[in-house]
Amino acid sequence: MLKNLPKSIHITEVGPRDGLQNEPKVLSTEDKITFILMLQKAGLKSIEATSFVRPDRIPQMGDASDLYEGLMALTSKKVEYPCLIPNLKGLEKALEVGVKEIALFTATSEEFNKKNINASIDESFVRMEEVAKKALAEGLKVRGYVSTVFGCPYEGKTSTKKLIEVSKRLKNLGAYDISLGDTIGVGVPLQVNQIIEELDKEFDLDLFSMHFHDTRGMALSNVLTSIENGITKFDSSAGGLGGCPYAKGATGNLATEDLVYLCHSLGIETGVDMDLLASASDFILSKLGHVSSSKYLTAYLVGKK
Ligand code: HMG
Ligand code: MG
Repeated sequence: MLKNLPKSIHITEVGPRDGLQNEPKVLSTEDKITFILMLQKAGLKSIEATSFVRPDRIPQMGDASDLYEGLMALTSKKVEYPCLIPNLKGLEKALEVGVKEIALFTATSEEFNKKNINASIDESFVRMEEVAKKALAEGLKVRGYVSTVFGCPYEGKTSTKKLIEVSKRLKNLGAYDISLGDTIGVGVPLQVNQIIEELDKEFDLDLFSMHFHDTRGMALSNVLTSIENGITKFDSSAGGLGGCPYAKGATGNLATEDLVYLCHSLGIETGVDMDLLASASDFILSKLGHVSSSKYLTAYLVGKK
C-alpha cells in the first residue's frame, strides 16, 4: 500500500462545465467568468470552461460563446480552457470565438448515449471523427470522454471490452487524453483496479484521466486506487458541484478540495493553493445558494467563518 506514489498529479477542473450544467439556477456569464478566474488564481492550469451543446437542452451553458469571449479578454492565456463539443455545429461556434482545446464525448452504453446525445455509439463516432478532423486541421487539441465506464443508469453493468474498443477509436481519431467517467458514481476500488489492469495491457496509461463522481462516497478511494495503479491525471470539480442531466441521481463530481487535500497529505504536488481554491468554491456556492458536498471544504469553511 502507498508505494511508488507520483511526485505530482494533473487536475482538469470541470466545475464551470460539469459542475454548473446540472444546477437549477442559471448563473450570469459574469459570475461564471469570475469563478473561472478565481480557479485560475488558485493554480489550476486546465479548466473546462463551458460546452457548446444545444442551449435548449442545457440552458446552464447557453452563454458559451459570450463566456469564452469574455474570459479571453481577461485571462493571461497561460491556462488551458477545454470546451465540450458534441458535433460540427458546436465546433463551428467554438472556432468563431477562438477555442483552442475541445473535449469530445461518448459512452460505453448505447442507452445513455441515446439519451445524452441522441446518437448510438457508432453514430457518435461518425460525428466525433468529422469534428476531430476539422479541429486538428485548425490546430486545436482534442480530448475525449468516455461515460458510464463503471456503470450505466439505464443498462446497469457496462463492458470493459467496449471501453477498450471505444478508447482505441478515440485515440485513433487523435485524442491526446481520454477521461474515463464514472458518470453515476457507482465505481468501487476493486473495479477501478480491474479496469486499469485491463487498460494497461492495451495502452500507455498516460493516455487516461479518471473522472469520478462522488455519488456514493467512493471517489477518493477510487482516486487512491488509481494512483497506486499508475494514473496521474484526474478531473474534479470545485466544491464537489456537478452531475449529468441525462443520468438521474448523478450527483457531484469528486471535489477538487478533497483531491487536493488527499494528494498534499501524501506529498503529491497539485500546484493548487487551498485557500484560494476554497474562496473560489465559496464564491460560486454563494451564487448558487447551497452548501458544498465536499466534506473537506465544509470543514474548512466552518474553521474560517
Ligand atoms: P440533436 O437533437 O441530435 O441535433 O442534438 P440535431 O443535429 O438533430 O439538431 C437539432 C437542432 O439543434 C437544430 O436546430 C440544430 O441547429 C440544433 P433547429 O434547426 O431545429 O432550430 N443544434 C445545436 N444548437 C447549438 N449548438 C449545437 C447544436 N447541435 C444541434 N452544438 C446534441 C444532439 C448532442 C447536440 C444534443 O443532444 C445536446 O446538446 N445534448 C446535450 C448533451 C450534454 O451536454 N450532456 C451533458 C454533458 S456530458 C456529461 O456530463 C458526462 C461527462 O461529464 C463525463 C461523465 O461524467 O461521464 C462528460
Ligand atoms: Mg461528469
